[in-house]
Amino acid sequence: MFPPVAAFAVTAALFLSRPCSAYPELIDKIRARQINVGSLRSSYDYIIVGGGQSGLVIGNRLSEDSSKTVLIVEYGYVDSNPSQLEPSSAVQYPARDLFNVTTVPQTGIGGKRVSVYAASVVGGGSTVNGMLFDRGAAEDYNNWAALGNPGWDFQGLLPYFKKSTKFGTPDAATVQDYNITWDPNAYGNGPIDVTFPSWQWPTIKVQWRAWAEVGVPKMPDGETGNAYNTYWVPNNVDSQSRRSYAKNRYFDPVSSRQNLHLLTGYRVNDIQFSSSKRAQSVRIQQRGTANGAATTTIAANQEIVLCAGWLNTPVVLQRSGIGPQDLLTRAGIPVVVDLPGVGSNLQDHPATQINFQCE
Ligand SMILES: Cc1cc2nc3c(=O)[nH]c(=O)nc-3n(C[C@H](O)[C@H](O)[C@H](O)COP(=O)(O)OP(=O)(O)OC[C@H]3O[C@@H](n4cnc5c(N)ncnc54)[C@H](O)[C@@H]3O)c2cc1C
Ligand SMILES: *[C@@H]1O[C@H](CO)[C@@H](O)[C@H](O)[C@H]1NC(C)=O
Ligand SMILES: *[C@@H]1O[C@H](CO)[C@@H](O)[C@H](O)[C@H]1NC(C)=O
Repeated sequence: MFPPVAAFAVTAALFLSRPCSAYPELIDKIRARQINVGSLRSSYDYIIVGGGQSGLVIGNRLSEDSSKTVLIVEYGYVDSNPSQLEPSSAVQYPARDLFNVTTVPQTGIGGKRVSVYAASVVGGGSTVNGMLFDRGAAEDYNNWAALGNPGWDFQGLLPYFKKSTKFGTPDAATVQDYNITWDPNAYGNGPIDVTFPSWQWPTIKVQWRAWAEVGVPKMPDGETGNAYNTYWVPNNVDSQSRRSYAKNRYFDPVSSRQNLHLLTGYRVNDIQFSSSKRAQSVRIQQRGTANGAATTTIAANQEIVLCAGWLNTPVVLQRSGIGPQDLLTRAGIPVVVDLPGVGSNLQDHPATQINFQCE
């Protein structure tokens, strides 16, 4: 099921750049909490592979217990450019913060190859993305549960969706003018600010009418599992329309915890397993060094948590010997677990633009 969504309704609003006089950034403090490879402990209770969106959230939660040590290893760096907080950053693709990969020829578009981006920066996709704060339809999650993952259905996940968010009441005049609708019960009292910016593109009204004319109904509450037909998608921005994301909401506030270390500019090459196939340690290598250059091994007393994103989590698994046996054997990687699905079945949402002049 691939429903038409009214994502355009809010994307447009993010082109607007707003004047901001101060950035409540804690850059110097974060720098202080970043660790050099020489200052690493020889082992941590938890090692998180990737300091992107999910990695920073998990790092925050695991380090709440001050008796547990947590290391986050991130290939990218901190992007301290204030422009990344601006609404206009929603439509910029800062090459410094991205992996830019080219697909194999796509049969659906005449064999063309296309560029696909994945974030590579502290905060991951939440640092560079379009700030469309969208949830899937209930059926999408219910299908996960049906595949044998109890608790991953929409009702099972909703408490966590709520927990991460706080909804800021939007400007009443804009709400009325644009007939913006949402379900206040779908949000909680969490760190990520979510709202509808006060400025919307006037041409959106015409687009809403067009959808109605072709018979696509409006859903009043896309965030409660009704993410199909057309509906309003809010943005993860604060009351001044600044990006509210994993780094400034989940990492910065806890970066002074002594038990939480962030190492940037290093890649986890692979995970090493014991003979009983227990994940024991990660092997890391400095970004920019050649294949075969020096690596450092760091042990995990408890768990290694993979948060390297859709592009690189399968790569780390394959390099560690978890993946399709044929492929691993051809690459000279000893097989730990023959798991054919690793590195396959990627689904992404295609995006294209239609530009026209409004008069
Ligand atoms: C340009 C762009 C626009 C987007 N727009 C939207 C939007 O408007 N709304 C929306 O909901 N979603 C959007 N997304 C998607 C959303 O941002 C992602 O789904 C989300 O950030 C994924 O989180 P993640 O933790 O799985 O991975 P990521 O946030 O990508 O984090 C993975 C991290 O792992 C690091 N890493 C990778 N390999 C290694 C390794 N071997 N060792 C160490 N570190 C490694 C990467 O550098 C990265 O920082 C967008 C994504 C992009 C790229
Ligand atoms: C990604 O790579 C393609 C092909 O090399 C290039 O045309 C495009 O400009 C790159 N995008 C960014 C954001 O660097
Ligand atoms: C506003 O949206 C609601 C549904 O969310 C719809 O019933 C109503 O007709 C809309 N009003 C206008 C003026 O478009």
